[in-house]
Amino acid sequence: MRTVDLIRRKRDGEELSADEISFLIQNYTQGQIPDYQMAAFLMAVFFSDMGDQEVTAMTRAMVASGSTIDLSSISGVKVDKHSTGGVGDKTSLIAAPLAAAAGVMVPMISGRALGHTGGTLDKLEAIPGFRTNLTVDEFREQLRMYNLAFMGQSAEVAPADGKLYAMRDVTGTIESIPLIASSIMSKKVAEGIDALVLDVKVGSGAFMKKQVDARKLAQLMVAIGRRHDKRVQALITDMNQPLGFAIGNALEVMEVSQTLQNAGPTDLTRLSLELAARMIFLGRVTMTLDDAREMAQRKLLDGSGYRKFKEVIKAQGGDANVLDRFDLLPNATGVREILSPRNGYVSAIEAEYVGLASAMIGAGRETKDDTVDPAVGVILEVKVGQKVDAGAVLCRLYYTKEDRLEEAAETVEEAFRVSAAPPEDRDLILEVVG
Ligand code: URA
Repeated sequence: MRTVDLIRRKRDGEELSADEISFLIQNYTQGQIPDYQMAAFLMAVFFSDMGDQEVTAMTRAMVASGSTIDLSSISGVKVDKHSTGGVGDKTSLIAAPLAAAAGVMVPMISGRALGHTGGTLDKLEAIPGFRTNLTVDEFREQLRMYNLAFMGQSAEVAPADGKLYAMRDVTGTIESIPLIASSIMSKKVAEGIDALVLDVKVGSGAFMKKQVDARKLAQLMVAIGRRHDKRVQALITDMNQPLGFAIGNALEVMEVSQTLQNAGPTDLTRLSLELAARMIFLGRVTMTLDDAREMAQRKLLDGSGYRKFKEVIKAQGGDANVLDRFDLLPNATGVREILSPRNGYVSAIEAEYVGLASAMIGAGRETKDDTVDPAVGVILEVKVGQKVDAGAVLCRLYYTKEDRLEEAAETVEEAFRVSAAPPEDRDLILEVVG
């Protein structure tokens, strides 16, 4: 088998066999296929797409590139939640403790910020002392003790995804349905879960800009999960404006704390509760989804989700006091206000621009080797639909360095549209698949 022949066939829209896909993934992971050939293959997939059988084979090959975590010694249904990536999306840090407090086993393997989107691991690492580099044994032990453990993808779990994702990031091939589906599902299958709740984002701040594509991605991931005997449900949710008010790692931890104490933004609370309810339902803690919704609500109101998050922060070496004392979190040194140019209604807050601006001042990564500044980010002062006066503060940029502040301020300014008429209401949860 020659790599160049497989690239050529994919380029011409042919379907590759499972053996051929496995050849590509295995040899690339082991360093026997050079980056330039893999880059060409990824671009061929981007333009020619893949059939269901090919995506399933790709997922299998990526799982086989590492080891599968064996969680069978832990009783209870293991349920994870994963988002396709958004701006201000901190729902994992709210839904996971709520579900864990309800008795679901939640092993969570999360990702890092890349491009304009944020990453759960970076948010957790904004908490002083928090360790995300658990070994598989530590991960399993913590799950057994606390029902919830967070870790990052390691060399053991789907290493092919680590290499492929980095290559996609620099070759313009992130926004591909088969590549996103195999990337996410390989990590989830390798993690040894029984069920999965997916949050497929759609809109300006998401990789999928159109609902029809988000639906296709959701259907594909649900189908891959089923082929691996996992129960999967996907919500398709709006990512045209950032979720909540906070964008940036420590700022988002503060908003998580407020939300787990039932004092968070309405959109963030609503989506986190629905994701937690679906985790509780798939975790077979309740018989019906309505009962699961009630339970998620109860775990929020009685503070047990909040306490669970504190317990897990402590168990992973972090300072749990940060949830009550925000001054213990990394703090920015400067603030820049962005003002409304006119009276009117906020008709759009383009999530992508807010995410890009936040990344420019250090909250995210432009390449995978960049380090993030945990203190910085953006706090929105308004949401879409709100009436504003000329000169009112639309958002604040919190920064520690001034190098790209002007560029970031201009970018975030462009995110806001203030119109004479109020915008139409838009649903947050658009569809359920699975
Ligand atoms: N998240 C992932 O893990 N992979 C992708 O390809 C996109 C989002």
